[in-house]
Amino acid sequence: MQKIAVIGAGLMGHGIGQIFAVHGHEVTLVDLNQEILESATVGIRNNLELMATHDFITPEKIDAALTRVSTTTNTEQGIDGADFVVEAVVENLEVKQNLFKMLDDLCPPSTLLASNTSVMSITEIARKSVQKQRIVGTHFWNPPHLIPLVEVVPGQETVPATVDATYELLLSVGKHPVKVKKDVPGFVANRLQHALWREAISIVEHGIADAATVDECIKFGFGLRLPALGPMENSDMVGNDLVLAIHDYLLKHLESSPEPSPVLREKVEKGELGFKSGRGFQSWSEEDIEASRKNLQQYLLKVVKDM
Ligand code: NAI
Repeated sequence: MQKIAVIGAGLMGHGIGQIFAVHGHEVTLVDLNQEILESATVGIRNNLELMATHDFITPEKIDAALTRVSTTTNTEQGIDGADFVVEAVVENLEVKQNLFKMLDDLCPPSTLLASNTSVMSITEIARKSVQKQRIVGTHFWNPPHLIPLVEVVPGQETVPATVDATYELLLSVGKHPVKVKKDVPGFVANRLQHALWREAISIVEHGIADAATVDECIKFGFGLRLPALGPMENSDMVGNDLVLAIHDYLLKHLESSPEPSPVLREKVEKGELGFKSGRGFQSWSEEDIEASRKNLQQYLLKVVKDM
């Protein structure tokens, strides 16, 4: 699968295109917005220059990677000859369904079509397409050029050959793909992530600890273990009998609401959106925001390099 088209060149799309270009693929980024396409190529250069300072790539290879990236606002032109198309447009089911129908009509049967949705059903996204067997979820994580995981998710009618070929392609470009067995909302990793976030927000809502303390409990506590020891291995390590005893006592006290927290809803209604407005669960100055982003970037560069 030599030629890759990425539809939607925003936050995720340009990073996804970068991964394939660095590994020798011809990449076309497609976006409705010309300005986004221009900032996408600048974004890729900036990412690669930063990665070069951490020895992920030699400086000479940056220009070579960028020469493999082309851009267009014309979708039909962008997908021409593509072997693999990744969709990374807005998280809107109808937009995705219509886009996949168009891709399905235009691309030859051998072209695989992937969606980067983070939570939506792949079966639903493929609903209006005819050749559903070649439609698959590839859930990259932000920033896609640094986070190794990609969840590969079959819709109800996706054939194993599509999943296998997608998995192999992702492996060949240095990602850590995993095969999800069932197409459920949130797949695997966002279900885990948001189960934790629901409890975190609930703890703040019920005055058990403030927001900064909740984050400290993770950053300086069990969060440190997670990259080396996931919960399933950990359960076996400490003993499933102990985990059963803890769950017997504790689970009834944990948050189990199927609705978002009223505190979260109230904050959104008041415009307390977080970094976007300078105030959320905590207050954020421009310097705090910059420091937080830099801290994450430096951390990821270091740990991913050491992997
Ligand atoms: P974004 O808003 O940064 O980029 C979306 C881009 O798609 C925009 O540049 C827009 O102009 C373009 N677009 C919209 N409709 C289009 C169409 N029909 N044809 C071509 N281009 C079109 O969004 P972002 O954050 O990159 O998200 C993209 C997808 O990736 C969404 O499905 C999102 O849920 C998913 N995702 C996002 C993550 C994140 O952390 N932002 C993480 C993992 C997945």
